[in-house]
Amino acid sequence: MDKPSQSPSPNRPAPPTGACDPPAHVAIIMDGNGRWARSHGKERLLGHWEGYRTLKRTVYAADDMGIRYLTVYGFSSENWRRPEGEVSGLMSLMLAAMRAEIEDLAENGIRVKVIGRLNELPDDLRGEFLRAMRRTESHTKLTFTLAINYGGRAEIVDAVRAIAADAARDAMDVASIGEDAITTRLYSPETPDPDLIIRTAGELRLSNFLLWQSAYAEIWVTPTLWPDFTPEHLALAVADYNRRTRRFGAVVE
Ligand code: FPP
Repeated sequence: MDKPSQSPSPNRPAPPTGACDPPAHVAIIMDGNGRWARSHGKERLLGHWEGYRTLKRTVYAADDMGIRYLTVYGFSSENWRRPEGEVSGLMSLMLAAMRAEIEDLAENGIRVKVIGRLNELPDDLRGEFLRAMRRTESHTKLTFTLAINYGGRAEIVDAVRAIAADAARDAMDVASIGEDAITTRLYSPETPDPDLIIRTAGELRLSNFLLWQSAYAEIWVTPTLWPDFTPEHLALAVADYNRRTRRFGAVVE
């Protein structure tokens, strides 16, 4: 991370080596910050700060590899159940990170999006997210999406509510409701489904992440804790993805 960079912005880490054909959309469940902290005799929050450094390195690595969309699970709708100090520490971390990174992200042509129930977030954090989205809305390199106060079930519920509201206004014929009716009402309908979902820290579950969109996603799990995840792990996941045959329910000879 501290290597000298060839990139346009001095804050941007150097590109990874050994990249191969990338999937268009990679989504990551960044797990293991707490375990990393414990194993280093530190407070859990310090694990999240280390996770932030890893996230920054991963965003630029993904862009350098030609990945078009990167979505990360930053704070789930279930994470409110954590101790109050950890929740408020995570809110402060996200605010500080967004303020520190937005100019570099923008200068590098990266588009920032935030999905989730943003109306339930503290005003200052929501405001920073909205500013970041406006600031980068015309950018055409990597689309970097943060899922914050996000739950896959809540996203589907919100889409169903929008459909019901349209149907109640007679703006929609119930018989015509199909998958498209949901897909077009998700939080970021223009983002393609993830091709590859990476989960760190070894658990074999989706934890309410992109439930609708992950129907045909390939899943890659590593025991590596998120703070220890490197661009080389990303390249390994992509290489493994490239060896798989995606059938989407059909037979491929
Ligand atoms: C899961 O690890 C991680 C989180 C709930 C938070 C993710 C946050 C970051 C990576 C910090 C940077 C985020 C942004 C959006 C700037 P865990 O705490 O569940 O780890 P454990 O399972 O080992 O306890």
